[in-house]
Amino acid sequence: MASDGLISRRITDHPVLGPLPSARKVTINCDGRNITAREGETIASALVAEGVLQFRRTEKEKEWRGIFCAIGRCTDCTMTVDGVPNIRTCITTVRENMIIETQEGLGVWRIEKHAQPGIQEEG
Ligand code: FES
Repeated sequence: MASDGLISRRITDHPVLGPLPSARKVTINCDGRNITAREGETIASALVAEGVLQFRRTEKEKEWRGIFCAIGRCTDCTMTVDGVPNIRTCITTVRENMIIETQEGLGVWRIEKHAQPGIQEEG
C-alpha cells in the first residue's frame, strides 16, 4: 500500500528474482504529496512505483513527458528537485525530505542566489 493509501506499483515479490530486499525508507514530496521511497533508488523509480508517470511538460507544445531512455541520455524525465530545474530523475537517487516538482518547459530556479555555494551576488 502506498503512503497515501493508493496501491503501489512496486514489485515486492518477483516470480523469478524473489522478494525485494529490505531497504531504509525515506520520505520525499512530489507536488505536495508525500511518497515513501526506498533508500538508493532513483527519483523516477520511486515516482513510477507510486503511479506518477508525467514528469514535465514541453515548453512549446505543452506535451507531457516521463521516463524514456531511463539511462540519463534524454531529458524526458527532468523535474525541479529542491528548487533546481532540469534534474534527470532517472539517474538521481532519493534523499530524505527531497522536494520534487513537475516541471513546466525549461523550469524555474526556486532557490535564492545566496543559498547556492559558488554563486556571488552582483554589486
Ligand atoms: S529518461 Fe532519459 S534522461 Fe531520464
